[in-house]
Amino acid sequence: MTLRRPLVAGNWKMHKTGAEARGYARSLRELLADGDGRVQVAVCPPFTALDAAVVAFAGSGVEVFAQAVHEADAGAHTGEIATGMILGTGATGTLVGHSERRAAAETDLQVARRTRAALDAGLSVILCVGESLDRRDAGETEAWLTAQLRAALPGLGGREDALSIAYEPIWAIGTGRTATPESAQAAIAHVRRVAGEQLDAERVRVLYGGSVNADNAAALMAQPDIDGALVGGASLDPESFAAIVRAA
Ligand code: 13P
Repeated sequence: MTLRRPLVAGNWKMHKTGAEARGYARSLRELLADGDGRVQVAVCPPFTALDAAVVAFAGSGVEVFAQAVHEADAGAHTGEIATGMILGTGATGTLVGHSERRAAAETDLQVARRTRAALDAGLSVILCVGESLDRRDAGETEAWLTAQLRAALPGLGGREDALSIAYEPIWAIGTGRTATPESAQAAIAHVRRVAGEQLDAERVRVLYGGSVNADNAAALMAQPDIDGALVGGASLDPESFAAIVRAA
């Protein structure tokens, strides 16, 4: 019997305006209206649609998260967003360390600082980790995940309610090539073991991300260590996202 409430989060990446977020929210609210609240649901719009999404989802139980955050409270950081700005929209969480941000030069050190800054500010965090195809083919998946987690998690013990980890193998993102439930389970069991060095491993939620859709979601989330999904492309359509929520 797990203590962990499933979490399904939709990462919209660089898609949707505020007006489009409002239309999306109307549909998703209807689709999830008969839900029992057992699954926590979040959407992660771009910064420019956070305000609109917060208003449009108010009272629905669907949370709104940002996709990234800077570690400083304020300052000369052109194009960046601080924790207080995210909180000011009414959003309640943020992704940190998505592989698409790491590829655009977000370092392990920044990921660690940003995770800590967001948690300190009272935001929920979905910390993203995952290996490239080259690392996987070289048999370095576990070592890579260990290094990413050991860079980000020290000092975060006790934050298990606000901190989730998303395992997103880079080779499965946007490729239609989903990890098998067994290989996702194996990697996520490893993530949980390493997270257990810093956190209460039984309480920290670990999500799978990478080409999750309405057809594969149930089998992935049936694995014992997989506590939910971080969904990209299939979250852009409210119907397919709602189907994934129901699968959880
Ligand atoms: P896809 O679901 O489009 O593969 O994206 C996964 C992802 O990167 C979610 O953060």
